[in-house]
Amino acid sequence: MVEEKRERWNARGSFIMAAIGSAVGLGNIWRFPYIAYKNGGGAFLIPYFIALFTAGIPLVILEYSLGQYMQGAAPKAMKKVKKSFEFIGWWALGIGSIISFYYCVVMAWSWKYLLASFNMEWGENTKDYFFNKVLHISKGPFEIGGIQWEVLIGLALTWVLIYFIIYKGVNRVGKVVNITVPLPIIMLIILFIRGITLPGALKGINYYLEPNFAILLDWRVWLEAYSQIFFSLSLGFGIMIAYASYMPKESDVANNAFIMSLANCATSFFGGFAVFSILGYLSVMNNIDITKLKLSGPGLAFVTYPLALYKLPALGALFSIAFFVMLLTLGIDSAFSIVEAIVSGIHDKWNINKEKLTLIFCIVGFLSGIIFTTGSGLYWLDIVDHWMSNFGLGIIGLLECILLYYFFDFKKIKEYINSVSEIKVGLWWDICIGFITPAILGFSLIFNFNQEFTKSYESYPMKALLIGGWGIAVLCMIFGIFMMKMKGNRVKG
Ligand code: PHE
Repeated sequence: MVEEKRERWNARGSFIMAAIGSAVGLGNIWRFPYIAYKNGGGAFLIPYFIALFTAGIPLVILEYSLGQYMQGAAPKAMKKVKKSFEFIGWWALGIGSIISFYYCVVMAWSWKYLLASFNMEWGENTKDYFFNKVLHISKGPFEIGGIQWEVLIGLALTWVLIYFIIYKGVNRVGKVVNITVPLPIIMLIILFIRGITLPGALKGINYYLEPNFAILLDWRVWLEAYSQIFFSLSLGFGIMIAYASYMPKESDVANNAFIMSLANCATSFFGGFAVFSILGYLSVMNNIDITKLKLSGPGLAFVTYPLALYKLPALGALFSIAFFVMLLTLGIDSAFSIVEAIVSGIHDKWNINKEKLTLIFCIVGFLSGIIFTTGSGLYWLDIVDHWMSNFGLGIIGLLECILLYYFFDFKKIKEYINSVSEIKVGLWWDICIGFITPAILGFSLIFNFNQEFTKSYESYPMKALLIGGWGIAVLCMIFGIFMMKMKGNRVKG
């Protein structure tokens, strides 16, 4: 069998846009602003940018160069480094798959809210609306409750969209991201302008950015900065490796990494203004203590923000539509980037028709997501997400750095990058990949492990954590080993 020619992006710009699309996701709106607010406001920008330059960008460069140089998605790229490393690529894709299963459920809620936006159906009691009318939340993870049909339909819609975007390959992805990257930014600008022209906006922004430099002495703030950077740049799930593998071998690496990373962080910073200005308005005009509100995660997007929208003096429905269109377009390109990484990985090994593969994965993704559409869905989503983003990303990122730096001819990768890139990687990059990033990731893993054993997460029953947390985490690892052991049918690579 002769290896077919690898697919290609239609332009360098498409690759950069797609990478930005993956990075800029829900996290930029519901994670960054809150983490900044909680960890020193404006002062948080110091650890954040240090994390960006000492770990974020170096790791993006590493993932890009790996994909581009080896011309393969994560498993193939790792296998070319060393045969036994293949399982790490699969492990990363296993974790990515699980993330895609629940990420799409959050998008399903967003569809429901987009529909509800036209008459702002949620009314004043947004908490009751979200938990009881949309989710029909049960009493605990083991009281499964019924499937919420509207959410299920939203989930199906999301997977159908993902299928149609990626089944034709990255060429179509390159076109779709021309819409899904700028559109949420335009919506964000609209919400920002509405936000800062409201009374109380300044108070909100003050909350967001009031610098507290003393807090920088707390090492946990630094850990938060690093983990936010990793999560936000979609590192450790094989996405950037797969995307870069569709670039010709001689394309620039370092420059692309800088552009993508800076664009992502700028969006996060800007997102904070849109979120906190309107929260300031909500707090001042309605006498609500801002600290009593849910300021991050689903609570921000589906409870607090809708309340603020409802309280707008005029055109609330229009801004609600803008907000949920923003969430959906932010989410979709992150969601399909994970699916693309997985499908590419399998395609690289077995040469199965990509259309068929995408269809199968989308069906599996949809079916696996059903549990999250039940009354107990939010509990499971919370548990699985906590484990995947705390341990999954950390372990894979750590292994990537250590194995490539210490067990591979690292100089070769460096020479390759410098032969194609405008910005050269020097000793600083060695220090970042060989020492700083693994030290920080290793340290956070130990810290997180320790925390898991001292206190049960959110007081969920231990059995639920064993299944949804540790169980799924171990399953991803077994999946990695299993996939490596399976015989591929490619002659080359
Ligand atoms: N980077 C995305 C965000 O900030 C999250 C994400 C992580 C998406 C991993 C896909 C894969 O929301």
